[in-house]
Amino acid sequence: MESPSVQDILGENAWLYIGATVVVLWFIVWLYRDSLEIEELTDKYVFVTGCDSGFGNLLCKKLDRKGFRVLAGCLTEKGADDLKRSAGPYLKTVLLNVTNQDSVQKAMEFTKNEVGEKGLWGIVNNAGCSLPMGPSEWMRVEDFQNTLKVNLNGMISMTMTFLPLIKKARGRIVNVASVLGRVAANGGGYCISKFAVEAFSDCLRRDINYFGVKVCIIEPGFFRTAVTSLDPLERELHRLWNQLSPDVQASYGDKYLDKYIKVQRLIMNAVCDSDLTKVTSCMEHALTAVHPRSRYSAGWDAKLLWIPLSYMPSCVVDIGLKLVLPRPSKSV
Ligand SMILES: *[C@@H]1O[C@H](CO)[C@@H](O)[C@H](O)[C@H]1NC(C)=O
Repeated sequence: MESPSVQDILGENAWLYIGATVVVLWFIVWLYRDSLEIEELTDKYVFVTGCDSGFGNLLCKKLDRKGFRVLAGCLTEKGADDLKRSAGPYLKTVLLNVTNQDSVQKAMEFTKNEVGEKGLWGIVNNAGCSLPMGPSEWMRVEDFQNTLKVNLNGMISMTMTFLPLIKKARGRIVNVASVLGRVAANGGGYCISKFAVEAFSDCLRRDINYFGVKVCIIEPGFFRTAVTSLDPLERELHRLWNQLSPDVQASYGDKYLDKYIKVQRLIMNAVCDSDLTKVTSCMEHALTAVHPRSRYSAGWDAKLLWIPLSYMPSCVVDIGLKLVLPRPSKSV
């Protein structure tokens, strides 16, 4: 007697049912695995860079409330004082300029002293700057380099200097990239630096996982922080425009700058989210989950627009930007 086949029992769509069941089960297992949290936060130290404002500032306060021992790197005296005043007694601040190797080294020595034999559980490389941004042709070489110094060289020197402390604790490295590290939509050093942050973090994750160290990338969409603040963005665009030769200015036309600024304002006001907790929740997950994710995209614009765009052919973004941005007057 023949035994009944899968089709006999489940009918014609057997493989469809089996496939759907596997997908649902896989998702449930993933959700469960994703929700597991580590224990004993209160003896764990986390170092965060760029804590004067924005994501870094908010993250420090949230980690402090959770019970972590927070070490907050601030660029300015005022940033450090303000943060200290709004946090509990365990949070400590340290002045840090990530572009200065002496300053990074000093912060590491301070941290080494604080954490002792346990090592450092987490480092959140959050410090970043966006300016100047604008049409590529308007940039001088120094304009690219100033952004790269902070966002890329700063992150590399922080990570490499603190790595021995992290390795000791089998800890976490959390690097803040951007959706602009997935889609290059704006000229200047910012997109370049964030693409580089993605590459640096991927390589590091693949090389260092043997030692129990996990590397996570945070990809925020557009949020209301110093990085997207319109006044400095526009001030920089004016500066770039003023440093152009009359020839180049003429090829764009004298209305171009105003139109460009108007479009930028419209877009920023439409897409910038003021709920920074969407980003800090991802950072918290990276630091507290048993199995942190390799990538976190934060914000609806990231999930629904930028990340899908990053998988599409280049011409989709080319055409999209052409439709949105003004046209130089002497374009051919
Ligand atoms: C940070 O350090 C660099 C390199 O030493 C220096 O050029 C820059 O002015 C410093 N920035 C601040 C805000 O202190």
